[in-house]
Amino acid sequence: MENRKPIRRNTVHPILIDIAFPITTPRLMIRNVMPGDGKAMHEVLEESWTDLCNWMEFTNHGLKSTDDTEKIIRENHARYILREDMMCAAFTHDGRLISMCGLHDPNWALRSFDIGYYVRSSEHNKGYATELANALTRFAFGALDANRVSISAASGNAASRRVIEKLEFGLESVTKFDAYLPDGSPTGHASYVRYDIESLPDLEVSWAN
Ligand SMILES: CC(C)(COP(=O)(O)OP(=O)(O)OC[C@H]1O[C@@H](n2cnc3c(N)ncnc32)[C@H](O)[C@@H]1OP(=O)(O)O)[C@@H](O)C(=O)NCCC(=O)NCCS
Repeated sequence: MENRKPIRRNTVHPILIDIAFPITTPRLMIRNVMPGDGKAMHEVLEESWTDLCNWMEFTNHGLKSTDDTEKIIRENHARYILREDMMCAAFTHDGRLISMCGLHDPNWALRSFDIGYYVRSSEHNKGYATELANALTRFAFGALDANRVSISAASGNAASRRVIEKLEFGLESVTKFDAYLPDGSPTGHASYVRYDIESLPDLEVSWAN
């Protein structure tokens, strides 16, 4: 706490902030979504739909067509340019899309970001979510000058909570009820936060300069 850098209020207009994607880790390349990603994202959604329907609110709207998925990608590309959100895609080094993830709800004045992710079902339990969330956390503090990085999971989402706990985020709050899961059952959320990268598991991560 005592050694933490002083927290400054950001005064630069967000659209002028340069963002050093892509991020490279031993197994992944992570970058903002780009026009043309829709087809691969649609394949991931199709493959993973049953798992996603357990936890992800967007599944309430049903599985979109490839074109509608490309529309979502392009809208999010535009939001990235405006620095309103940073939806990302994580690929293996041979180009296979592994995860849709991101640094969401950026508050550029506070320099706070919220990490989100899902991993394609055929790649679960191989450490990908842990690797990409570690990388996004390091990127937020190291390249975006973050003061605060959060991750939340539905209380019963044991796999996601395990990812966050492996990364030693601190538990900040647990709500009893604040949302409905896609199946209509009520849920609370566990919210975890980091104010620095202290004790974050080692990971070789680099990004563009
Ligand atoms: C949550 C999710 C992203 C995890 O991705 P992943 O790449 O499989 O995660 P990792 O392999 O890095 O770590 C998963 C950990 O959870 C554990 N785990 C998996 N299923 C579990 C379960 N049902 N109960 C308890 N732990 C579980 C794994 O054993 C592993 O821990 P370990 O390394 O100690 O063995 C993935 O399951 C997913 O996409 N789920 C659907 C969407 C979702 O829930 N997104 C998160 C919303 S907050």
